[in-house]
Amino acid sequence: MGKERIYNFSAGPSMLPLPVLEKAASELTNYNLSGMSVMEMSHRSKAYQEIFDETKALMREILSVPESHEILFMQGGATGQFAAVAMNLMGATGKADYAVTGNFSSLAAKEAKKYGEVHIAADTTEKKHTVIPRQSELDLSAGASYFHYCANNTIYGTEWDYTPRADCPVVADMSSNLLSKPVDIAGHGLIYAGVQKNMAPAGMAAVIVDKHLAGRELPCTPTILSYKTTIEKDSMYNTPPTYNIYMLGLVLKWVKEMGGLTGMEQLRDLRSGLLYDFLDNSKLFTGCAEKSARSKMNVTFRTGNADLDAKFVREAAANGLVSLAGHRIVGGMRASLYNAMPVEGVRRLVDFMGRFELNNKI
Ligand SMILES: Cc1ncc(COP(=O)(O)O)c(C=O)c1O
Repeated sequence: MGKERIYNFSAGPSMLPLPVLEKAASELTNYNLSGMSVMEMSHRSKAYQEIFDETKALMREILSVPESHEILFMQGGATGQFAAVAMNLMGATGKADYAVTGNFSSLAAKEAKKYGEVHIAADTTEKKHTVIPRQSELDLSAGASYFHYCANNTIYGTEWDYTPRADCPVVADMSSNLLSKPVDIAGHGLIYAGVQKNMAPAGMAAVIVDKHLAGRELPCTPTILSYKTTIEKDSMYNTPPTYNIYMLGLVLKWVKEMGGLTGMEQLRDLRSGLLYDFLDNSKLFTGCAEKSARSKMNVTFRTGNADLDAKFVREAAANGLVSLAGHRIVGGMRASLYNAMPVEGVRRLVDFMGRFELNNKI
C-alpha cells in the first residue's frame, strides 16, 4: 500500500473524490492567485463570498432546489439538527411525529422530546431495523407540527425508496444519501445532512428549508440554531465553516461533471448492484436488511459467525479494502458505497469476498 490510495468503505467521514482532493491540494497554499489559502480568508472578503455564492448556487442547481426553499450551512453536524428541527418547528402545535427506523432517528426523537410531545409514527425496533415502513403503515397523528424520518439508516443499511407524505411538513435526515439520487425537495419542509459522507469533510450540516417554516422557533432556541436568523444572515450570523463550504463546492463541481444526480444514481446502482448480486448468490455471506428495504449507500452483511466476520475484516484490510467492520452496536460488516467510491473498489471487494468464501467453507 504505502503511498497508494486504498478503498475506504468507512461510513463517514469517508472517501472524497480524488480529483477534488487533488484540486484542493493544488490550491491549498495559494487560492486563485490570492496569495493565501481559503482557510486563511476572511469570510467577509470578496474572494470568499464568491466561493460561498458559487457553492450555494451549484447546490441549488444540482438538487433542483425550488425558490420556496433556502439552503443553509450550519455547524453541529446532523446531531445539531436533531435539536434545531424540534426547537424551530415544534412550536406550531407542540407535537411532532417521528418514524424510528434506526439509531439516528431514535436519537432525533429523543432529542425532540425535550421540546414537545413526540408521537412515534412507526418503530421498526422489533424487526431489528431491517425493514422500512410503507406509507400505509405510518401512524400519522392529527395536529403534528411535522413528520420526521431518516431517509437512509447508515448503521442498519436500510433506505426509504419513497418520499413519505403527511398533512404536515415532512422533515428528512438525509445525512447518508443526499446527493446520491434526485430528491423531491418540494415534498419536504426540511432536509438536513451531516456532510461527512457524500458531500464534504466533517464539520457542517447542509440544510434545505422551506422559508415559510422559519420564524416559529421556541423562545429558548439558541440564535445559532435559529433557521430564521440563519436565513436572514445567509449562514453567516457567525464565522461559517469556510473550508468545508469550499470543499463542498469542489465536490458539487465534480458531481456536475459526472452527470449530476442522475449520473450519481447510475453509479450508485452499479456499485450496490454488484455487491447485492454477490450477496444473493453467496453461501457464506448474508445481507442484513430485508430486500425491499436495502440501502444503496450502506450495505450491511454478515457470515453469522463473529470470529469469521472479524477475520474477514482483518484480511480485507490487508488487501487494501478498509473500514469494513459493521457499526459496534450491530457487528457484522458494512460497506459504505458513497459517491466517491469507485466502481472498481466494489469489484475488488466482491472478488475478495469470493476468494474468502472459497477459503473459508462452512
Ligand atoms: C443518518 C445519520 N444521521 C445523523 C448522524 C449524526 O451525524 P453527525 O455526526 O454529523 O452529528 C449520522 C452520522 O453518522 C447519520 O448517519
